[in-house]
Amino acid sequence: MPTTPARAFPENFLWGTATAAYQVEGAAAEDGRGPSIWDTFSHTPGRVDDGDTGDVACDHYHRLEEDLGILDRLGVGAYRFSISWPRVLPGGGDRLNQRGLDFYSRLVDGLLERGIAPVATLYHWDLPQELEDAGGWPHRDTALRFAEYAHRMGETLGDRVHTWITLNEPWCSAYLGYASGVHAPGRTDPADALAAVHHLNLGHGLSVQALRATAAPQARVAVTLNLHHVRGVSERDAEAVRRIDALANRAFLGPMLDGAYPRDLIEDTASVTDWAFVRDSDEATACQPLDLLGVNYYNPVLVRGWDGTTRRETADGHADGSASPWIACEDVEFVQQPGPYTEMGWNIDETGLTELLLRLRDDHPALPLMITENGAAFADVRDGDGRVRDVRRVDYLRRHLTAVADAIDAGADVRGYFVWSLMDNFEWARGYAKRFGIVYVDRETLDRTWKDSAHWYRDVVATGTVPD
Ligand code: NOJ
Repeated sequence: MPTTPARAFPENFLWGTATAAYQVEGAAAEDGRGPSIWDTFSHTPGRVDDGDTGDVACDHYHRLEEDLGILDRLGVGAYRFSISWPRVLPGGGDRLNQRGLDFYSRLVDGLLERGIAPVATLYHWDLPQELEDAGGWPHRDTALRFAEYAHRMGETLGDRVHTWITLNEPWCSAYLGYASGVHAPGRTDPADALAAVHHLNLGHGLSVQALRATAAPQARVAVTLNLHHVRGVSERDAEAVRRIDALANRAFLGPMLDGAYPRDLIEDTASVTDWAFVRDSDEATACQPLDLLGVNYYNPVLVRGWDGTTRRETADGHADGSASPWIACEDVEFVQQPGPYTEMGWNIDETGLTELLLRLRDDHPALPLMITENGAAFADVRDGDGRVRDVRRVDYLRRHLTAVADAIDAGADVRGYFVWSLMDNFEWARGYAKRFGIVYVDRETLDRTWKDSAHWYRDVVATGTVPD
């Protein structure tokens, strides 16, 4: 394996790990929690590999103390988790479920006692089922309900949680949930997906306002996007790059950071929707000052224009002929990239992360950045001696942290980094077979075992340095 020199990070750089409620908590029907779209979806045969569900997940709900102990021993400065909306407001209404809220209170207090900053995501994909039944994200009212939920969380946890993330990867919520249907709620209507994009943007803006009104004055508010680092096969493919960039990135960056949808996006999708769901002041509402932009990065995307004469490559993971998340992009081809690959089939290329961070430095120089997710799934096994030798994950993390250091050296204002994930968990439509954790979770006993990467990361955190 190639070696690179050791890299030191800035003194106050925030080191963390991340999880999300439905992926780790379990206790799906306990203490008054209501159903979410992921309960419904995962219980629908054929939707999730191996029929896996989040009913038990990592049983984090019952193993909170043990997991807090792991975080403590890792020495991280922050922990990114998500609040389950249907656990605290079952049905998505306004009746607060105190027992559900108590869980997050215990989590937040437990973190603070250990000197770990809580970073709370409000929406990591578990929409209350009742709100989906009423129309879901394509429906304007969902954005208003989301703002009320944000208000309640600011009121109840805002004295202690000082970093908030409104939405996690709204690209997935809109396009995988409502266009390709591979995520909950599993719908395949492109016009609905674009309406969902808008109501997620609107919900984001409204929830920032709600948090500013309720949380502590020093609270930092952010959104997490899975920005796609798009490259063209050649310079002739600039139009394909522009199309994907508009749909994947600028559909969110535009309203949230610049207060307007990009004109080209509206034109590209004119055959699908007239965007009449965008009301006069919506774009201004979506555009609230943010303290941080959360960036989730796994791999870059390679595209070229498709002229219809060859068999189209669909290397983005959706089979040709099935519903696509790429609305009105029939003339774009996703090209297979060279390996190595992770267990998800994603290519490993950390240069995309540096390039993405430098683009954000250029486009939004005043906005601090935080890597809210980065990591890799591999087919980890526990050896006879009980050890999990995940050398490829260590190499992946080392490469990507070095890429972050390169971006910082080039002037990107990156404030922190969160490994996805603290522990192996429910990887959405792929179930439990895809292991992203730095801590191994035995699916029979749910016992936790530190992988070699967890030991490695603890040393990185302790020294603020990525070793060579
Ligand atoms: C992004 C999502 O936020 C997270 O929930 C998921 O597990 C990881 N990526 C890996 O796919």
